[in-house]
Amino acid sequence: MPIIYDRDNNIFHLMAGDSSYIIKIFKNKYPVHLYWGKKLNHSHFSEAFITSPFGPNPDPNDKSFTFDRMLLEYPSYGNSDFRHPAFQIEQEDGSRITQIVFNNYRIYKGKPKLEGLPATYVETEDEAETLELELIDELINLKVILFYTAYNDYNVITRSVKFINEGNQKLKILRALSTCVDFDHCNFDLLHLWGSWARERYVERVPLMHGIKTIESSRGESSHQHNPFIALLSKDATEKNGEVYGFSLVYSGNFAANVEVDQFNTTRVTMGINPFEFTWILDKGETFQTPEVVMVYSSQGIGEMSRTYHRLYRKRLVRGVYRDKRRPILVNTWEAVYFNINEEKLLSLAKEAKELGIELFVLDDGWFGRRDDDTSSLGDWYVDRRKLPSGLEGLGNKLKEMGLKFGLWFEPEMVSPDSELYRKHPDWCIQIKGRTLSQCRNQYVLDITRKEVRDEILRMMKEIIKSAPIEYIKWDMNRPLTEVGSLALPPERQKEVFHRYVLALYEMIEELTTEFPYILFEGCSGGGGRFDPGILYYMPQIWTSDNTDAIERLKIQWGTSIVYPASTMGAHVSAVPNHQVGRITPLKTRGYEAMSGVFGYEMDLTKLTPEERELVKEQIEMYKRVWHIVFEGDLYRLINPFEENSASWMFVTPDKREAFVIYVNILAEPNPPFKKLKLEGLDPNKKYIIEGTDKEYYGDELMNIGINIPPMRDFDSFAFILKEKS
Ligand code: DGJ
Repeated sequence: MPIIYDRDNNIFHLMAGDSSYIIKIFKNKYPVHLYWGKKLNHSHFSEAFITSPFGPNPDPNDKSFTFDRMLLEYPSYGNSDFRHPAFQIEQEDGSRITQIVFNNYRIYKGKPKLEGLPATYVETEDEAETLELELIDELINLKVILFYTAYNDYNVITRSVKFINEGNQKLKILRALSTCVDFDHCNFDLLHLWGSWARERYVERVPLMHGIKTIESSRGESSHQHNPFIALLSKDATEKNGEVYGFSLVYSGNFAANVEVDQFNTTRVTMGINPFEFTWILDKGETFQTPEVVMVYSSQGIGEMSRTYHRLYRKRLVRGVYRDKRRPILVNTWEAVYFNINEEKLLSLAKEAKELGIELFVLDDGWFGRRDDDTSSLGDWYVDRRKLPSGLEGLGNKLKEMGLKFGLWFEPEMVSPDSELYRKHPDWCIQIKGRTLSQCRNQYVLDITRKEVRDEILRMMKEIIKSAPIEYIKWDMNRPLTEVGSLALPPERQKEVFHRYVLALYEMIEELTTEFPYILFEGCSGGGGRFDPGILYYMPQIWTSDNTDAIERLKIQWGTSIVYPASTMGAHVSAVPNHQVGRITPLKTRGYEAMSGVFGYEMDLTKLTPEERELVKEQIEMYKRVWHIVFEGDLYRLINPFEENSASWMFVTPDKREAFVIYVNILAEPNPPFKKLKLEGLDPNKKYIIEGTDKEYYGDELMNIGINIPPMRDFDSFAFILKEKS
């Protein structure tokens, strides 16, 4: 029974894993927040507010309280709470004030799907329980339903909101965030993931301050710059200790996460679709569903929060046949040949790949239209026979004969000004009439909010997919949205375009993944510009970053792992000098890091030396031995590359019988001090052996004494597999 309703005290107690979340319906009207934290066995206690001498008071019959002094579950603006609101609705008379009060509730097993939106799910009804709190504004007959799902086995509460217009007027939603949590103190640090192209998801931790701090995207995608995730950390929180509250939005477009510390030192967290450049018209009888926020509580630091997200996202967000399967080891042509594609070169690369043990050959950008560089052809999704005379079918069949799977790159949301599609349909891109459109990487964004545009792109893609034995698709998206407007929508709906774009994107991917369930999809957006839970619902893996340098990847993969499991992170071994930063790192190190994700190669394999060939073969064999530890195991981050001159992490299987440990030195130190690597997550009483050696240790020794780190050269590394000694 993870959700209990205590009728006497009007309290809902949600128990999720080892955590409790408690709501009281104050005065039988107002949902107020009582608690979120370690699991409680009792919940009748309910101090919902503090009296305030000066606060305005919303209730003519009881002057003792003001909303400004309360912890609220879903606050509106304009009736005595002056913090930022969770939602706002404009009415036909121009007013923006609503007064929603408790009307009804439902508690049931399982978790409902969100219409048209990605969300975490359950496989059996017993995995979770859902509470719906129905609130109503009686003046305008607007229903606001707050959805809370508590998972039994995870410290996870998911939240989303549905607006139902049951009144007689047209409403305009100005703001519709997915969650609000008010904390009764502000002794937190804020952790978030910021970045840029080739520097995605750097970790930043800052103290909270009075006022509002917003982490957001207004680029039309979740973005390289800010990930739709924040966490509040107790001041003493570390990887291993302290309280952590995570908020992760299952959405791929403009988002906002706001943290407000007010005059009374309370902290309000809200998260959802970015209200900037957003409105939504809700006609009579219509509903609006917000995306979902996945909230995780950890009493054991940042590491345990991450592991909770990993377990949940691996098994109850990602879907499809590849959810539980090893992904084929791939070679991608991008850094190998860029646009210099010809069948002969591709086949020689494929032949080498096959001999090395690679399983999937991915043909990246440049195979279609007349795309010899990035100035043309997006939108012309037909094969360029100058480069591939036997077409994709011919190439695909030759790969198949070699025993390789065939994968293909698309950028479906885009159009080049120099393309047949654009010449035929210049009105089909996102634009504002009369305004010059900004080009980015020589391309415009298609207005996929229009059905005819979606249909035509999908038609071309399906024709290609059916024409050849394609088993993998990389779905790229290489620019943000600018001059945002749709020629197909009336003026009053122009601020719907950003959200409609995301809904349209989801619809397209849903259609393709349903029609071609056997295809492995990999998301991409100029590397990791759309690495978010929304995409992961449709595609089990995402290209983490265009930066393939082993040292840069330490930070990028560390930061990404704060929320996302290794099984979702595309990670490729590339050539040196590295194409992004020019650094030369050992092949060994590049290999170990790529093994900490979805493993592949992205280099001209025909140029390997004999020694490198042997090492690549060994890497592939090693990956086959460790992938299940990486994919199914728990991640323990050991040494933080943002803080140290080295990095280390390890994965441990749930039964704690196997582990995979990686250590990378950054710069060599002369005559270095004594260093130990202390492991985590092992069974203290199990005896482990390092695979391939006769070294044996007990778990408690490895975790408390640790192993010696030898002096190491620049960018050198070691990795090993631990197995329980039977
Ligand atoms: C950006 C991606 O991140 C790269 O991996 C590659 O696919 C290029 N686009 C191709 O244009």
